[in-house]
Amino acid sequence: MQEMQATPRTQPLRVGVAGLGRLGRRHAQNLAYRVPGATLAAACSPLEEDLAWAREALPAARLYADYAAMLADDALDAVWLVTPSALHAQQIVDALRAGKHVFCEKPLSLDVAECERVVAESRRYDSQQVTIGFMRRFDPSYQAAFAKVQAGAIGRPFLVRSQTCDLNDPEGFFVRFAPTSGGIFLDCTVHDIDVARWLLGKPRATRVYATGTIALHEGLRAAGDVDNGVAVCEFEGGGLAMFYASRTMAHGNDTSSEVIGTAGALAIGHIPRVNRVEIYDAGGVRSECTPTFFDRFEEAFLVEAQAFVASVRARMGASGAHDAAAQGATLEDALEATRIGQALRQSLQTGQAVTF
Ligand SMILES: NC(=O)c1ccc[n+]([C@@H]2O[C@H](COP(=O)([O-])OP(=O)(O)OC[C@H]3O[C@@H](n4cnc5c(N)ncnc54)[C@H](O)[C@@H]3O)[C@@H](O)[C@H]2O)c1
Repeated sequence: MQEMQATPRTQPLRVGVAGLGRLGRRHAQNLAYRVPGATLAAACSPLEEDLAWAREALPAARLYADYAAMLADDALDAVWLVTPSALHAQQIVDALRAGKHVFCEKPLSLDVAECERVVAESRRYDSQQVTIGFMRRFDPSYQAAFAKVQAGAIGRPFLVRSQTCDLNDPEGFFVRFAPTSGGIFLDCTVHDIDVARWLLGKPRATRVYATGTIALHEGLRAAGDVDNGVAVCEFEGGGLAMFYASRTMAHGNDTSSEVIGTAGALAIGHIPRVNRVEIYDAGGVRSECTPTFFDRFEEAFLVEAQAFVASVRARMGASGAHDAAAQGATLEDALEATRIGQALRQSLQTGQAVTF
């Protein structure tokens, strides 16, 4: 096992981002310009187009076309993986072996055995942090609801209803992406699964059932996928979750959750308004909707990055408490999310409930 390099207390955390696509560019800009205590020291993508963007947008970062070359950079404390999901598991293992802390976008892997391999390997690197990017845990509204549940405000929580619904994309980007995305439950519902387990006290699932339909995108049929899916998940101890995922919303990204307890309920984000403007016109009274997941969760991505950097710096001896609860989803949480997501996909395809 490689020893972590001691970083002087006052030095910022030196981060390298791998993957500069749709989401990687957002993470890179947050780390470069909006996260106290972090320096975006390096960035990596095999695509020249991404590197050309980085030369302009991230002038202070050392640029790599090869992930292994970035990992060999001794002047990096942490890597930030925003690469295609199928690469995450091995890239996390490689980063741990190179002595780096790791932030990795969801999902950990589309394959449960791969997740288990990473969890087992990570046990050899106790001093290095690994966080998986279930950013809803850092959204201020989700955090406020979680704090109320913890404080007993709704009694004993026993049911979560949660949905991830995207604006319809007539171009069908996700149809082309379907063969590698793992399908609607592993790509979208995986967030709701993590939210449900987080709000219900991290129970393990005992049985799931899923079904779905193709409302618009017939191209998904070949990949065994649907554009609207619903699911029920039973947890040990009697907890329940109901999930809905859609790719075909007419109004925008409509992501919300509800947690129901023995003494009350909390609804999070049920009206997906993009801002606080109400429009009064001949059509009635309305608000405009968040167009994309990033518009809805921009603040969550930033708070998530700030929390990771603060947590790792605290481990390394900088000021601030090392707060395990504030670290976000662990590898074990991400393993459970993939285990449930994979079972939902199996249930969708077989028409049968899956018992764990
Ligand atoms: N948290 C969320 O809500 C959320 C939302 C969108 C995407 N994601 C996740 O983020 C990840 C990236 O998604 P995206 O939409 O940005 O994908 P993308 O295809 O737009 O970007 C992927 C990037 O990775 C780069 N890449 C490919 N192989 C690489 C390698 N070996 N080393 C370094 N870089 C490599 C590509 O060149 C590209 O720049 C996925 O895992 C996805 O599930 C999470």
